[in-house]
Amino acid sequence: MPGFFVNFVAMILLKNNDQVEMMRKSALLVSQTLAEIATTLKPGMTTSVLDKTIGEYIRDHRAIPSFLNYNGYPFNSCISVNDVVVHGFPNTKELRSGDIISIDIGVILNGWHGDHAYTFAIGEPEKGVGQLIKITKESLYKGIEKAVDGNRIGDIAFAIQEHTEKKNGYGVVRELVGHGLGKSLHEDPQVPNYGKRGSGVKLKSGMVLAIEPMINLGRKEVFTEADGWTVRTKDGKPSVHFEHDVCVRKNKADILSDYTPIEEAERKNPELFVC
Ligand code: MF3
Ligand code: CO
Repeated sequence: MPGFFVNFVAMILLKNNDQVEMMRKSALLVSQTLAEIATTLKPGMTTSVLDKTIGEYIRDHRAIPSFLNYNGYPFNSCISVNDVVVHGFPNTKELRSGDIISIDIGVILNGWHGDHAYTFAIGEPEKGVGQLIKITKESLYKGIEKAVDGNRIGDIAFAIQEHTEKKNGYGVVRELVGHGLGKSLHEDPQVPNYGKRGSGVKLKSGMVLAIEPMINLGRKEVFTEADGWTVRTKDGKPSVHFEHDVCVRKNKADILSDYTPIEEAERKNPELFVC
């Protein structure tokens, strides 16, 4: 049932089936953009060139890059290399073999937001980093498995934390969280990547969530640079970020975004290391 669902401090906007289909189109445009970029990634490239390509691709598909000017954010996309956790500014530094790069893209298509991210390895990553990528992606799907009607936000959070921190000893970033998604980029509820099973807002069919584990190889602590955006690990070790747009349903979450084209492009590009 679409409409409002008020849960103490959270006002959660439920989406009806037509709205979910609109959001799927937005999410899939982000997936296509990421796939397009994945075909071109290679050492020597700069992230500002990628950002320009991203902006053009989105506009060519009658959409708007939603991050640009959001709270003053100055680029089309967030491109976070190595120890940058999220919100990295595209820049003119050349990518090198061994770098890992998280590309986070948002669009507004017909008024609805899509927002998701993928981490690529350019060449073979350093010891343990490939495994961090693999486990972080797995944790995203473990979180998504819990995004069903009747569960709570804490069930998603716990699943992600268990797979990354408890089982593998990685650092789960506390300061940044996933979020509801719809006509706004950030809606209630917040979706942390750590927490207690059975805690928090109850999930209902029609909630659309951006679930986004941000997982550090080393310690969980991060800091924001003087530019006000770039978030880095305090220990300088790499960090990985994956994000999907997901609609809560009765027995199984509906993943609106799609990694299939991205993974296909990743496999076909000999410059990328599949983790
Ligand atoms: N995926 C990120 C988020 O949902 C990206 C936002 S970057 C911003 O928060 F520039 F738009 F803020
Ligand atoms: Co997001």
